[in-house]
Amino acid sequence: MFGKKEGSSTSNAKLDPNRIPDHIAIIMDGNGRWAQERHLPRVAGHKQGMQTVKNVTIAASELGVKVLSLYAFSTENWKRPSSEVSYLMQLPIKFFSTFVPDLVKHNVRVMVMGDITKLPQGTQKAVNDAIADTADCNEMILNFALNYGSRDEIIRATQQIAKKVAAKEISVDQIDEQLLSQNMMTADLDKLADPDLLIRTSGEERISNFMLWQIAYSELEFTDVYWPDFDRHSLEDAIVKFQGRHRRYGGLKNN
Ligand code: FPP
Repeated sequence: MFGKKEGSSTSNAKLDPNRIPDHIAIIMDGNGRWAQERHLPRVAGHKQGMQTVKNVTIAASELGVKVLSLYAFSTENWKRPSSEVSYLMQLPIKFFSTFVPDLVKHNVRVMVMGDITKLPQGTQKAVNDAIADTADCNEMILNFALNYGSRDEIIRATQQIAKKVAAKEISVDQIDEQLLSQNMMTADLDKLADPDLLIRTSGEERISNFMLWQIAYSELEFTDVYWPDFDRHSLEDAIVKFQGRHRRYGGLKNN
């Protein structure tokens, strides 16, 4: 599983194909502004953003990324106008109805973090079907955050652990980093749960409740590019910047 691609296709001479980050997480931002600048309705930006998700997924898989986590809908996004929420809820249906064969072709497995039971039935079905249809794929995981919020995730993990303590299944002393990680929504990603690189598009420089536990040691990259304009080259540029960083994890030497 997860073999590095031989001769990954890249046009970026600065990119080292042997040091591709295993896990890239992206806060996809700027769809609305992209649309507004073109005098289009906001949802046109989301539609174009969905196309970007396809392109970036293929690019990441061809570069040898092992996990691509995408913030598609947050626990706070319900506050948007209901017409926009409805549109966003249709996107996974549109996306998977056309894209699952490409995902299978590129050996990409779909996973989800977030409480999808609160999504409309049709959206849940599209997501669950895509998870099932790609269950045997093993080159890259496309990890969608849907109705996901990091504080919600941490609360749920805490509740799960507290229940185990109350039931005397574990003692308080057994609560450690590993146990917390095992109770996060990324538990199935195991050693790949923590992003090496977190990218946020559109010039905003904040985390917005995304993977707070998992990004403790991630490299952060903020780009002014709006998500609908983000492409393979933008991804490669971000990876080149990542490759120029020295990750020390609190220590003194490169790891
Ligand atoms: C943020 O831009 C974007 C979102 C809240 C939605 C992201 C969704 C997609 C990119 C499509 C997802 C595709 C699938 C398959 C689920 P914004 O609307 O906040 O932009 P703004 O800050 O310019 O208003």
